[in-house]
Amino acid sequence: MTAPHAAPSLPPVARRVFANRTLNLRAIEAVGFDMDYTLIHYRTDAWERRAFEHARERIAKLGWPTESLEFTPQAFTQGLVVDRKLGNVVKANRFGFVVRAMHGTRVLEFEEQRAMYSRVLVDLAEPRWQFMNTLFSLSEACLFAGLADLVDAGKLPTGTSYEDAYAVVRSSLDAAHVEGALKAEIVKEPDRFVELDEELPLALRDLRQAGKKLLVITNSEWEYTRDIMSYTFDRFVPGGWRSLFDLVIVGARKPEFFMGSAPIFEIVDESGLLRPSVGPLREGGVYLGGNARLVEKKLECPGERILYVGDHIFSDVNVTKNLLRWRTALIVRALEDEVHALESFKQKQRDLDALMAEKELLEHASGQLRLRLLRDDGGYGDGVPPAELRRGLSQLRGQLEELDARIAPLAREGVEIVNRSWGPMMRAGNDKSHLARQIERHADVYTSRVANFLYATPFAYLRSPRGSLPHDVV
Ligand code: IMP
Ligand code: MG
Repeated sequence: MTAPHAAPSLPPVARRVFANRTLNLRAIEAVGFDMDYTLIHYRTDAWERRAFEHARERIAKLGWPTESLEFTPQAFTQGLVVDRKLGNVVKANRFGFVVRAMHGTRVLEFEEQRAMYSRVLVDLAEPRWQFMNTLFSLSEACLFAGLADLVDAGKLPTGTSYEDAYAVVRSSLDAAHVEGALKAEIVKEPDRFVELDEELPLALRDLRQAGKKLLVITNSEWEYTRDIMSYTFDRFVPGGWRSLFDLVIVGARKPEFFMGSAPIFEIVDESGLLRPSVGPLREGGVYLGGNARLVEKKLECPGERILYVGDHIFSDVNVTKNLLRWRTALIVRALEDEVHALESFKQKQRDLDALMAEKELLEHASGQLRLRLLRDDGGYGDGVPPAELRRGLSQLRGQLEELDARIAPLAREGVEIVNRSWGPMMRAGNDKSHLARQIERHADVYTSRVANFLYATPFAYLRSPRGSLPHDVV
């Protein structure tokens, strides 16, 4: 802890809470948390590898060859989009233009990508596209990419399309998640799969101490929630994990939880015994199913005073915000790596910006000279001999070429930081990525982990920055 009179300083950038829309934490009366990849952070490499392997076993049982399917989590990132129709994974910018694409396990050359996508826009409302909403999507992308290669090689049953292959990936992963074997492995050896964060329990205790009601609303089932939450919190919290929360809802079936009117059941003992629940929800109770309206009734506060924190862009923040007007916070763990990479590229980015400004100037001058030549051709020039104009133009061309040779390696480096194939998750070249646009639309605030609320404090007034516009005067 810093001394009370120490000079004020903000948390490191990677650990800040960023606001798209201003959020006054003091006005928040209740905070609901998603569990998986929100309260609990998994070692993605280990968790997703096992999900991948379980699903691959299921695919092998169909008689499909699976030896060539490889788990390569670094080959993909959250926020990419699966193109079921063409067997690709793509990155799109905020308007839906594809800026990079991989077919099967091969990154496409620019010309191939352009041939496929110059007339196609990614529209997530169409079933063709599957947004990689969370880190759980990494195993899905690896499986789909491997199977797309097998479709191309003619090694799957005759007539199998990329779409068929995707359907098999989906059903195999669904089964792996829902049936017990995978989760049993996780709870048996949680230290292999769960990354502990001792600041997290303190952040939750602070929020509670500041008078906020805390809730868990997870799609995970009771036994898994109980074991994983116990493992993560009980060592840090004297009263055990349950003492942190006013209400726990498991098997929530989000996003329907936020839209529908499903009934709720009370879990009356540790083994998960169920009882239909009538009347108001019990303080400290554990429930299965239900819907958001029941939560609002129990909390007796309007949606704008409830903050829901989750990692799933569609299920946790999109519908919550749009239908209920709850405030939303998105957890994006990969933001930490992204910020660190941007920090180490900072000086080069400045150099690049300066070179680009110089280029803009030279291009403008070159355009002016060309226009004077054009006018001269048309017989209404300014009298300066064309040979002189051409000399100036050729000089500028030489300067531009020299500049381009300095820009190219820096620009290449800039689009390869964070991930060699895909570049920064939140950017698409100079523009925002599709992921960044989704986050901007649906998450009031976003941050890399729940423990960052510890730094922000329960009293933070999280202000959105002044949005930039192309005509801003800087
Ligand atoms: P939450 O994030 O706490 O709401 O929980 C997410 C739950 O969804 C976990 O129990 C995951 O095992 C499960 N899950 C994640 N991806 C899939 C999937 O592709 N199919 C089925 N269940 C999934
Ligand atoms: Mg989650």
